[in-house]
Amino acid sequence: MPTAETTASALDITWARSQFPSLAQTVNGHPAAFLDGPGGTQVPQRVIDAISHYLRRDNANTGGAYSTSRQTDAMIAEARAAMADFLHCTADEVIFGPNMTTLTYAISRALGRDWKSGDEILVTRLDHDANVSPWLQIAEDRGITVRWAEVHDEDCTLDMADLASKINAKTKLVAIGYASNAVGTINPVKEIVRLAHNAGALAYVDAVHYAPHGLIDIAALDCDFLVCSTYKFFGPHMGVLFGKREHLKRLHPYKVRPNTNAIPNCWEWGTLNHECIAGITACVEYLADLGRRSLELNKIAQPKEMRVPHPEPALSEAEGRLSLGANDAADASGFKSDRRTAIVAAYEAIHEHERALLDRAIAGLKKIPGLKIYGIADPARFDERCATLAVRIDNHSPLELATKLGDRGIFTWDGNYYALNLTEHLDVEKSGGFLRIGLIHYNTVEEVDRLLAALREIVST
Ligand SMILES: Cc1ncc(COP(=O)(O)O)c(C=O)c1O
Repeated sequence: MPTAETTASALDITWARSQFPSLAQTVNGHPAAFLDGPGGTQVPQRVIDAISHYLRRDNANTGGAYSTSRQTDAMIAEARAAMADFLHCTADEVIFGPNMTTLTYAISRALGRDWKSGDEILVTRLDHDANVSPWLQIAEDRGITVRWAEVHDEDCTLDMADLASKINAKTKLVAIGYASNAVGTINPVKEIVRLAHNAGALAYVDAVHYAPHGLIDIAALDCDFLVCSTYKFFGPHMGVLFGKREHLKRLHPYKVRPNTNAIPNCWEWGTLNHECIAGITACVEYLADLGRRSLELNKIAQPKEMRVPHPEPALSEAEGRLSLGANDAADASGFKSDRRTAIVAAYEAIHEHERALLDRAIAGLKKIPGLKIYGIADPARFDERCATLAVRIDNHSPLELATKLGDRGIFTWDGNYYALNLTEHLDVEKSGGFLRIGLIHYNTVEEVDRLLAALREIVST
């Protein structure tokens, strides 16, 4: 059910919501409000279509001498190109895998082959455990030292002085999150990459939580590895890893012998989830179309050099149809803005819309008796956080709150969401962690108001 709503942003919220069929559901007579994005976002219809189209027509293994196999090869190449536009890297630096955790275990094993006693790695107290445990375990295997960067308890930001003091000439790797999936803090990743490189260490960035909220620009970050999961930004359940070409070529992955040493495939184990890879291109195209609409809404005249002729249907007839159908805004003018340019525009619109939701949510939450917000709550510092909120309310467990909200059709989460080191450090783990409210660009001001009204009602009874 599209919600007519105006915000100061150029985000076409009515169009955006109309793309996601699941948003129309109701629970106990209430419209479903999906404030559970950090656990996994909803998908636009075109992602569902791309997946079923692949299974209907192109379903095959790779590398065969016949049409459906060739179409599969072409489809995967197109998805790599889409992710390269999304991340701002080159297509042969894009590795597909089942999820971020599996990819991180694979890279940690390959990196660890070169590490020896006396070497050090750095992890943070703020990170999801998928960017901690793989490193702790390889450190144990290789007998190397693990250093922990601590957090400022009062606002759940990284203690940068502490982090900098723990990077030295022995440091081999700095593993950091781009944004916290529990409290929403956005870390100064570019600065941390610089600190790592100055010491001769590699920088491994977990961008899983950041990806639906902010533009990833690998060319600007200069990180060595970056990992994300498409199911957190409107795509299917898959993980994607960027690795600098020099590292992907130099390192030795554990792999089977028939898989050659050619990148990126030597990093991909076994047969991948082809239908989901087909959905990845569609999810990137959704974001690009959101950006194109936002450029139109803003009435920004695009400079000539940003306009490229409408491309030929890319690879197979089927894929061409899918991507042409997706670009109706651009078709009218006969030109299509470059996909990366459109993605940049999408994230500007997403940022502005989510910022409006965040302002309203935090202002309302602060008025609820007994409620504590963990993380940055000062609007003057909202550029340091995304719209993911961790709260607790006196005398109500996070599970009780999530259950009562769920009964009212409002989907939130309770617990630690695998940010276990943080919940233990803040001593909330034993009492149920946090209630997490995740705001995403398809959420509306009305949904935020419903959440606030429901919480007020729950605490007053
Ligand atoms: C910040 C962060 N990192 C890593 C992960 C793990 O991702 P995956 O489920 O793709 O392994 C998650 C999942 O919630 C996450 O939020």
